[in-house]
Amino acid sequence: MPGLIERYRDRLPFSAGDPVISLEEGSTPLLFAPRLSERVGAEVHLKLEGLNPTGSFKDRGMTCAVSAAVRDGAEAVICASTGNTAASLAAYAARAGIRGVVIVPEGKIAVGKLAQALMYGARVISLAGNFDAALTLVRQVASVHPIALVNSVNDFRIEGQKTASFEIAEALGDLDALCIPVGNAGNITAYWKGFREVGLAPRMFGFQAAGAAPLVHGAPVAHPETVASAIRIGNPARWEQAMDAMTSSAGGVAAVTDAQILDAYRFLARQEGVFCEPASAASVAGLIAHGAGGAERVVCVLTGNGLKDPDTALSQVSGVVACAAEISAIEAAVL
Ligand code: F0G
Repeated sequence: MPGLIERYRDRLPFSAGDPVISLEEGSTPLLFAPRLSERVGAEVHLKLEGLNPTGSFKDRGMTCAVSAAVRDGAEAVICASTGNTAASLAAYAARAGIRGVVIVPEGKIAVGKLAQALMYGARVISLAGNFDAALTLVRQVASVHPIALVNSVNDFRIEGQKTASFEIAEALGDLDALCIPVGNAGNITAYWKGFREVGLAPRMFGFQAAGAAPLVHGAPVAHPETVASAIRIGNPARWEQAMDAMTSSAGGVAAVTDAQILDAYRFLARQEGVFCEPASAASVAGLIAHGAGGAERVVCVLTGNGLKDPDTALSQVSGVVACAAEISAIEAAVL
């Protein structure tokens, strides 16, 4: 499949002849979830964004943001990140042959994401502060130095990410509700823009981790905490647009506890065969805990791949079975 810019060029701010930095992102599966459907009494589909080239939805936005940065002559790109944006930036910067710099909260990013950012060759800066502090600082740096900022405050990110809505519309025709985790609030903004552009208006339900739920409280959270490190954010940059998506679609925002997130995380793996990361499971946790306003056909966005965060996965399961290399021991272990 061609990448997003090639597939949807007529609906994206790129002209023929513009440079395209792509890893053939997008075109991700929309998987029907029979057991989850039964559990919640609706027809539920999962948008598997963890199957993008770097394992998260960020690649949709990054192909556009980095292509635009290269078009505009940037020699470096920078972001603040809870991990996935960092991994994606690093990959697209490598592909473009420009410098990538990422600022991540010290000790609070999943190990797979850190490995990705380092392997792709980005400069990884570990900040003694949280994501919100990192975002404030990169905005300052990018405003005075010739480095392109590719967080979702960059409109090209929204343009790229809206294409997930196009794919859902192509696959289903229509849907009643979308359930999505909300961190910095770029993705819900992008989905809503995409749906509006294809004439759809599903109810948009955003879910935040209870310890990092500024939109639910209506006020920034100074010290956000959650097991879902990707959405450990206390002051989302796209706050107003996210609220607008939810209110104008007659959806809403609600919080899910870490226990609810981890329950949905295990349920998806064991009952549906889908291993997503904890933040992604917040969409399903929200659907299970709060419902989707009686919607019949629902899409839950699973934003990132479970392999990114092996530590959380291993904390949720019983250990492996040790065994001597003898047939009787093997039989005892297997049967
Ligand atoms: N799910 C995952 C796996 C994420 O990595 C993020 C955000 C979100 C959901 C929330 O999306 O911010 O657009 O509301 N991760 C960013 C990052 C903040 O730096 O990787 P959002």
